[in-house]
Amino acid sequence: MIQVRIPATSANIGSGFDSLGLALNLYNYIYMEQIDGIEIKSRDHTQVPTGENNLIYKTAKHLFEICGKPFTGLHIEQENNIPMTRGLGSSSACIVGGLFGANTLMGNPLSREELVNFAAVMEGHPDNSTPAILGGLVTAVIDDGKVYCVKQEITEKLRFFTFIPDFEMSTEMARAALPKVIDHRDGVFNLSRAALMSVSLYSGNFQNLKIAAQDKLHQPYRLGLIQDGDKVFDLAYELGAYAAYISGAGSTLMAIVDEAQADTFEKEARAALDRMGHASWELKKLMIDNLGTQVSV
Ligand code: HSE
Repeated sequence: MIQVRIPATSANIGSGFDSLGLALNLYNYIYMEQIDGIEIKSRDHTQVPTGENNLIYKTAKHLFEICGKPFTGLHIEQENNIPMTRGLGSSSACIVGGLFGANTLMGNPLSREELVNFAAVMEGHPDNSTPAILGGLVTAVIDDGKVYCVKQEITEKLRFFTFIPDFEMSTEMARAALPKVIDHRDGVFNLSRAALMSVSLYSGNFQNLKIAAQDKLHQPYRLGLIQDGDKVFDLAYELGAYAAYISGAGSTLMAIVDEAQADTFEKEARAALDRMGHASWELKKLMIDNLGTQVSV
Protein backbone atom coordinates (compact mmCIF):
# COMPACT_ATOMS: atom_id res chain seq x y z
CA MET A 1 0.00 0.00 0.00
CA ILE A 2 1.17 3.54 -0.60
CA GLN A 3 1.42 5.87 2.39
CA VAL A 4 0.48 9.56 2.37
CA ARG A 5 1.48 11.80 5.28
CA ILE A 6 -0.43 15.07 5.56
CA PRO A 7 0.32 17.82 8.10
CA ALA A 8 -2.20 19.65 10.24
CA THR A 9 -2.73 23.28 9.30
CA SER A 10 -3.64 26.50 11.02
CA ALA A 11 -5.52 28.86 8.71
CA ASN A 12 -6.17 32.62 8.87
CA ILE A 13 -3.39 33.37 11.44
CA GLY A 14 -5.75 36.04 12.75
CA SER A 15 -5.94 38.72 10.08
CA GLY A 16 -5.40 36.62 6.93
CA PHE A 17 -8.97 35.34 6.65
CA ASP A 18 -9.21 32.75 3.85
CA SER A 19 -5.73 33.66 2.60
CA LEU A 20 -2.95 32.79 5.11
CA GLY A 21 -2.16 29.41 6.60
CA LEU A 22 0.71 27.34 7.90
CA ALA A 23 1.51 23.64 8.28
CA LEU A 24 2.31 22.00 11.62
CA ASN A 25 4.20 18.86 12.64
CA LEU A 26 1.11 16.85 13.56
CA TYR A 27 0.22 14.31 10.88
CA ASN A 28 -2.54 12.13 9.52
CA TYR A 29 -1.43 9.03 7.64
CA ILE A 30 -3.43 7.43 4.86
CA TYR A 31 -2.63 4.01 3.40
CA MET A 32 -4.23 3.18 0.08
CA GLU A 33 -4.36 0.50 -2.61
CA GLN A 34 -6.75 -0.27 -5.46
CA ILE A 35 -9.00 -3.29 -4.95
CA ASP A 36 -12.33 -4.49 -6.32
CA GLY A 37 -14.84 -2.97 -3.89
CA ILE A 38 -14.48 -0.81 -0.83
CA GLU A 39 -12.71 -1.50 2.44
CA ILE A 40 -12.01 1.34 4.85
CA LYS A 41 -10.73 1.15 8.38
CA SER A 42 -9.15 3.23 11.10
CA ARG A 43 -5.78 2.25 12.60
CA ASP A 44 -6.60 4.07 15.82
CA HIS A 45 -9.56 4.76 18.11
CA THR A 46 -11.21 7.32 15.78
CA GLN A 47 -14.47 6.39 14.07
CA VAL A 48 -14.32 6.89 10.31
CA PRO A 49 -17.05 6.49 7.69
CA THR A 50 -16.52 3.14 6.00
CA GLY A 51 -18.70 3.64 2.92
CA GLU A 52 -18.84 5.76 -0.25
CA ASN A 53 -19.37 8.84 1.96
CA ASN A 54 -15.79 8.62 3.32
CA LEU A 55 -14.19 11.92 2.25
CA ILE A 56 -10.85 10.33 1.30
CA TYR A 57 -12.60 7.69 -0.80
CA LYS A 58 -14.94 10.22 -2.43
CA THR A 59 -12.05 12.54 -3.30
CA ALA A 60 -9.87 9.75 -4.69
CA LYS A 61 -12.72 8.34 -6.78
CA HIS A 62 -13.49 11.83 -8.11
CA LEU A 63 -9.88 12.27 -9.24
CA PHE A 64 -9.86 8.89 -11.03
CA GLU A 65 -13.01 9.98 -12.87
CA ILE A 66 -11.61 13.40 -13.79
CA CYS A 67 -8.46 11.74 -15.17
CA GLY A 68 -10.57 9.20 -17.09
CA LYS A 69 -8.84 6.21 -15.43
CA PRO A 70 -10.70 2.98 -14.61
CA PHE A 71 -11.75 2.87 -10.95
CA THR A 72 -12.53 -0.49 -9.31
CA GLY A 73 -12.54 0.52 -5.66
CA LEU A 74 -10.14 1.21 -2.79
CA HIS A 75 -8.72 -0.26 0.37
CA ILE A 76 -8.00 2.65 2.72
CA GLU A 77 -6.53 2.66 6.21
CA GLN A 78 -6.45 5.90 8.20
CA GLU A 79 -4.34 7.01 11.14
CA ASN A 80 -5.90 10.23 12.39
CA ASN A 81 -3.79 12.35 14.71
CA ILE A 82 -5.30 15.70 13.71
CA PRO A 83 -8.33 16.33 15.95
CA MET A 84 -11.52 16.55 13.91
CA THR A 85 -13.59 19.72 13.48
CA ARG A 86 -11.28 21.80 15.66
CA GLY A 87 -9.79 24.23 13.14
CA LEU A 88 -6.62 22.25 12.50
CA GLY A 89 -7.30 21.14 8.92
CA SER A 90 -8.66 17.62 9.45
CA SER A 91 -11.01 17.80 6.45
CA SER A 92 -8.29 19.32 4.26
CA ALA A 93 -6.08 16.40 5.28
CA CYS A 94 -8.74 13.97 3.98
CA ILE A 95 -9.09 15.85 0.68
CA VAL A 96 -5.33 16.21 0.20
CA GLY A 97 -4.75 12.57 1.19
CA GLY A 98 -7.41 11.36 -1.25
CA LEU A 99 -5.94 13.45 -4.08
CA PHE A 100 -2.31 12.43 -3.50
CA GLY A 101 -3.25 8.79 -2.93
CA ALA A 102 -5.26 8.60 -6.16
CA ASN A 103 -2.67 10.53 -8.17
CA THR A 104 0.09 8.17 -7.01
CA LEU A 105 -1.98 5.06 -7.77
CA MET A 106 -2.62 6.43 -11.30
CA GLY A 107 1.12 7.01 -11.92
CA ASN A 108 1.17 10.74 -11.12
CA PRO A 109 -0.68 12.25 -14.11
CA LEU A 110 -1.17 15.53 -12.21
CA SER A 111 1.46 17.96 -10.94
CA ARG A 112 1.60 19.24 -7.34
CA GLU A 113 0.38 22.60 -8.68
CA GLU A 114 -2.69 20.98 -10.25
CA LEU A 115 -3.40 19.14 -6.99
CA VAL A 116 -3.16 22.47 -5.13
CA ASN A 117 -5.92 23.82 -7.41
CA PHE A 118 -8.16 20.74 -7.05
CA ALA A 119 -7.79 20.72 -3.26
CA ALA A 120 -8.66 24.42 -2.90
CA VAL A 121 -11.71 24.11 -5.17
CA MET A 122 -12.95 21.09 -3.21
CA GLU A 123 -12.25 22.72 0.16
CA GLY A 124 -13.73 26.06 -0.91
CA HIS A 125 -10.81 28.24 0.25
CA PRO A 126 -7.06 27.76 -0.15
CA ASP A 127 -5.76 28.64 3.31
CA ASN A 128 -5.86 25.10 4.76
CA SER A 129 -5.41 22.90 1.71
CA THR A 130 -2.43 24.79 0.21
CA PRO A 131 -0.16 24.69 3.30
CA ALA A 132 -1.21 21.06 3.85
CA ILE A 133 0.27 20.29 0.42
CA LEU A 134 3.24 22.66 0.31
CA GLY A 135 4.15 23.01 4.01
CA GLY A 136 5.54 26.17 5.60
CA LEU A 137 3.72 29.48 5.67
CA VAL A 138 1.50 29.99 2.64
CA THR A 139 -0.10 33.16 1.29
CA ALA A 140 -2.76 32.10 -1.20
CA VAL A 141 -5.46 33.54 -3.43
CA ILE A 142 -7.94 31.46 -5.43
CA ASP A 143 -9.19 33.01 -8.65
CA ASP A 144 -11.37 31.20 -11.17
CA GLY A 145 -10.33 27.78 -9.85
CA LYS A 146 -6.60 28.51 -9.86
CA VAL A 147 -4.49 29.10 -6.76
CA TYR A 148 -1.88 31.87 -6.84
CA CYS A 149 0.40 31.35 -3.85
CA VAL A 150 3.79 31.73 -2.25
CA LYS A 151 5.16 29.21 0.23
CA GLN A 152 7.79 30.43 2.65
CA GLU A 153 9.76 28.22 5.00
CA ILE A 154 9.74 29.65 8.48
CA THR A 155 12.03 29.11 11.46
CA GLU A 156 11.77 25.98 13.60
CA LYS A 157 12.47 28.16 16.63
CA LEU A 158 8.82 29.09 17.04
CA ARG A 159 6.43 26.92 19.01
CA PHE A 160 2.74 26.78 18.16
CA PHE A 161 0.69 25.98 21.26
CA THR A 162 -2.74 24.65 20.41
CA PHE A 163 -5.43 25.02 23.06
CA ILE A 164 -7.86 22.37 21.82
CA PRO A 165 -11.29 22.60 23.48
CA ASP A 166 -13.35 19.50 24.16
CA PHE A 167 -16.06 20.62 21.71
CA GLU A 168 -16.26 20.68 17.93
CA MET A 169 -16.98 23.75 15.83
CA SER A 170 -17.97 23.12 12.24
CA THR A 171 -16.65 25.51 9.59
CA GLU A 172 -20.24 25.86 8.39
CA MET A 173 -21.42 27.09 11.78
CA ALA A 174 -18.38 29.34 12.24
CA ARG A 175 -18.94 30.91 8.80
CA ALA A 176 -22.66 31.39 9.48
CA ALA A 177 -21.67 33.65 12.41
CA LEU A 178 -19.98 36.16 10.08
CA PRO A 179 -21.58 39.33 8.71
CA LYS A 180 -22.40 39.51 4.98
CA VAL A 181 -21.06 43.04 4.62
CA ILE A 182 -18.09 44.74 6.30
CA ASP A 183 -17.10 48.34 6.88
CA HIS A 184 -14.43 49.70 4.49
CA ARG A 185 -12.27 50.61 7.52
CA ASP A 186 -12.38 46.99 8.72
CA GLY A 187 -11.19 45.86 5.29
CA VAL A 188 -8.19 48.19 5.51
CA PHE A 189 -7.56 47.13 9.13
CA ASN A 190 -7.28 43.50 8.05
CA LEU A 191 -5.47 43.76 4.77
CA SER A 192 -2.64 45.80 6.30
CA ARG A 193 -2.29 43.32 9.15
CA ALA A 194 -2.45 40.24 6.91
CA ALA A 195 0.39 41.63 4.79
CA LEU A 196 2.34 42.40 7.97
CA MET A 197 1.72 38.86 9.31
CA SER A 198 2.97 37.16 6.17
CA VAL A 199 6.19 39.13 5.87
CA SER A 200 6.92 39.34 9.63
CA LEU A 201 6.59 35.60 10.21
CA TYR A 202 8.84 34.91 7.25
CA SER A 203 11.48 37.52 8.05
CA GLY A 204 11.63 36.90 11.81
CA ASN A 205 10.13 40.25 12.88
CA PHE A 206 8.15 38.53 15.60
CA GLN A 207 7.64 41.76 17.57
CA ASN A 208 5.01 42.62 14.91
CA LEU A 209 2.93 39.46 15.34
CA LYS A 210 0.63 40.69 18.11
CA ILE A 211 -0.58 43.62 16.01
CA ALA A 212 -0.51 41.54 12.82
CA ALA A 213 -2.82 38.88 14.31
CA GLN A 214 -5.54 41.44 15.11
CA ASP A 215 -8.65 41.01 13.04
CA LYS A 216 -12.07 42.53 12.49
CA LEU A 217 -13.49 40.10 9.92
CA HIS A 218 -14.08 36.87 11.83
CA GLN A 219 -12.58 36.57 15.30
CA PRO A 220 -14.90 39.12 16.98
CA TYR A 221 -17.86 37.03 15.77
CA ARG A 222 -16.38 33.64 16.59
CA LEU A 223 -14.58 34.17 19.87
CA GLY A 224 -17.84 34.30 21.81
CA LEU A 225 -18.68 30.81 20.53
CA ILE A 226 -15.57 29.43 22.27
CA GLN A 227 -16.02 29.27 26.01
CA ASP A 228 -13.32 31.35 27.74
CA GLY A 229 -11.72 32.13 24.37
CA ASP A 230 -11.02 35.72 25.46
CA LYS A 231 -9.45 34.50 28.71
CA VAL A 232 -7.14 32.15 26.80
CA PHE A 233 -6.02 35.05 24.57
CA ASP A 234 -5.26 37.15 27.67
CA LEU A 235 -3.45 34.22 29.26
CA ALA A 236 -1.30 33.63 26.16
CA TYR A 237 -0.19 37.27 26.09
CA GLU A 238 0.42 37.35 29.87
CA LEU A 239 2.70 34.34 29.42
CA GLY A 240 4.69 36.14 26.71
CA ALA A 241 3.23 34.79 23.44
CA TYR A 242 4.12 36.71 20.29
CA ALA A 243 0.55 36.24 19.02
CA ALA A 244 -2.73 34.52 19.83
CA TYR A 245 -5.51 33.78 17.36
CA ILE A 246 -8.34 31.37 16.52
CA SER A 247 -6.92 28.55 14.42
CA GLY A 248 -8.95 28.29 11.20
CA ALA A 249 -12.64 28.41 11.98
CA GLY A 250 -11.99 27.21 15.59
CA SER A 251 -12.54 25.83 18.11
CA THR A 252 -8.75 25.60 18.68
CA LEU A 253 -6.97 28.71 19.96
CA MET A 254 -3.35 29.16 18.96
CA ALA A 255 -0.45 30.90 20.67
CA ILE A 256 2.87 31.54 18.91
CA VAL A 257 5.70 31.37 21.42
CA ASP A 258 9.49 31.62 21.27
CA GLU A 259 11.24 28.29 21.88
CA ALA A 260 13.19 29.84 24.77
CA GLN A 261 9.92 30.41 26.66
CA ALA A 262 8.14 27.25 25.59
CA ASP A 263 8.71 25.10 28.69
CA THR A 264 7.51 27.78 31.11
CA PHE A 265 4.61 28.65 28.81
CA GLU A 266 3.53 25.02 28.64
CA LYS A 267 3.64 24.48 32.42
CA GLU A 268 1.84 27.68 33.28
CA ALA A 269 -0.76 27.45 30.52
CA ARG A 270 -1.62 23.90 31.54
CA ALA A 271 -2.05 24.91 35.17
CA ALA A 272 -4.19 27.92 34.17
CA LEU A 273 -6.44 25.79 31.93
CA ASP A 274 -6.97 23.37 34.80
CA ARG A 275 -7.83 26.26 37.12
CA MET A 276 -10.39 27.53 34.58
CA GLY A 277 -12.06 24.12 34.70
CA HIS A 278 -10.72 23.03 31.32
CA ALA A 279 -8.71 19.99 32.33
CA SER A 280 -10.15 18.17 29.30
CA TRP A 281 -8.73 20.74 26.85
CA GLU A 282 -5.63 19.46 25.12
CA LEU A 283 -2.53 21.65 25.05
CA LYS A 284 -0.12 20.60 22.30
CA LYS A 285 3.29 22.06 21.56
CA LEU A 286 3.86 22.00 17.80
CA MET A 287 6.37 23.36 15.29
CA ILE A 288 6.21 24.43 11.68
CA ASP A 289 6.24 21.67 9.06
CA ASN A 290 8.16 23.00 6.10
CA LEU A 291 7.77 19.86 3.93
CA GLY A 292 4.07 19.49 3.25
CA THR A 293 2.45 16.29 2.06
CA GLN A 294 4.82 13.35 1.61
CA VAL A 295 4.09 10.13 -0.27
CA SER A 296 5.95 6.83 0.22
CA VAL A 297 5.40 3.94 -2.18
N1 HSE B 1 -10.60 30.43 6.40
C1 HSE B 1 -11.55 29.44 6.81
C2 HSE B 1 -12.50 30.05 7.83
C3 HSE B 1 -10.80 28.29 7.43
O1 HSE B 1 -12.02 30.74 8.72
O2 HSE B 1 -13.71 29.84 7.74
C4 HSE B 1 -11.64 27.09 7.60
O3 HSE B 1 -11.27 26.13 6.67
